[in-house]
Amino acid sequence: MLDIKITLTENPKPRPDEANLGFGRHFTDHMFVMNYTRGTGWHDPRIVPYGPISMDPAAMVLHYAQETFEGMKAYRRDDGKVQLFRPEANGARMQRSNRRVSMPEIPVDDFVQAVKAIVEVDQDWVPQAKDASLYIRPMCIATQPSVGVSASSTYLFIVLLSPSGSYYPEGVSPVKIFVEDEYVRAIKGGTGEAKTGGNYAASLAGQEKARSLGYSQVMWLDGIHRKYIEEIGTTNVIFKIDGEIITPPLEGTILPGITRDSALHLMRHWGMKVSERNISIDDLVEAHENGTLEEIFAVGTAAVVSPVGELFYKGKVLTINDFKTGEVTQKVYDTLTGIQWGRLKDEFNWIQQV
Ligand code: COI
Repeated sequence: MLDIKITLTENPKPRPDEANLGFGRHFTDHMFVMNYTRGTGWHDPRIVPYGPISMDPAAMVLHYAQETFEGMKAYRRDDGKVQLFRPEANGARMQRSNRRVSMPEIPVDDFVQAVKAIVEVDQDWVPQAKDASLYIRPMCIATQPSVGVSASSTYLFIVLLSPSGSYYPEGVSPVKIFVEDEYVRAIKGGTGEAKTGGNYAASLAGQEKARSLGYSQVMWLDGIHRKYIEEIGTTNVIFKIDGEIITPPLEGTILPGITRDSALHLMRHWGMKVSERNISIDDLVEAHENGTLEEIFAVGTAAVVSPVGELFYKGKVLTINDFKTGEVTQKVYDTLTGIQWGRLKDEFNWIQQV
């Protein structure tokens, strides 16, 4: 149990317009901070006014990217209460990410306590507007000043809060995705399944290319054959082909998404055939050609559930489901967001009140 010291700001910020939040552009009045020192462990948990942190320019995170992060949300229910969705799953995933980049783990209970405490302090910032929520960004960074390559002996764990609207400007309308066959995101044995900043830096070239061609995001193929589908930038991906739900398996190269896991759980609960197996881009193109490719949707905390309306692969445009949101996509969206915002019963014990 953390003994969190709270220092409140004397200069609260003006609140952003809820109708025009965008994603991840505004930050609340406070942040959670905790230090780690080798030999002592995690110490000095505190909530302080939001603001710049001072760091030595030799801090290891700035040179060798020893860092991890998480993405989660706090939701405002119709009765005004604030709730979190599966926060312990984010805590457990951060532990796995930290292990992969040789950083100390934070006990899951402490992680959840820290998130709840900072959300409680800034609970007035949780938006009321439809589809808006308080995006939560926990992060761990290496702070030891040294340019030798080794694991840092000191770290900071910080939790930021950002009132946000839809991740994609399209909202929950179909998005256009570029299938990347030049750059790759991950290979087995690498860091693909860890939520570490370097993965995202490496994805930017593909993402910028896709954007310049008018596509919202990239769909990554595997790093060896450039053939098997892995994930869409910032989300996992799910297909419905001839009645079967198919999604790439967790074999070390893709992010083990909590929204992915929740969506698969729901669809299995509804009695659908759900397969976690490899699917090649050629099989996908063939399914499109023979009319069995019914739906594609992207799932992630920030993006929630986004229908994919178009794919571009090697000069070919594939329109999916007449650029309309599919039935299963809509049902997963309605059910997940219904549970998250407290409009539907929490049958699976996914919700925790703040
Ligand atoms: C999330 O969905 O929370 C993510 O972390 C994706 C992203 C904005 C990097």
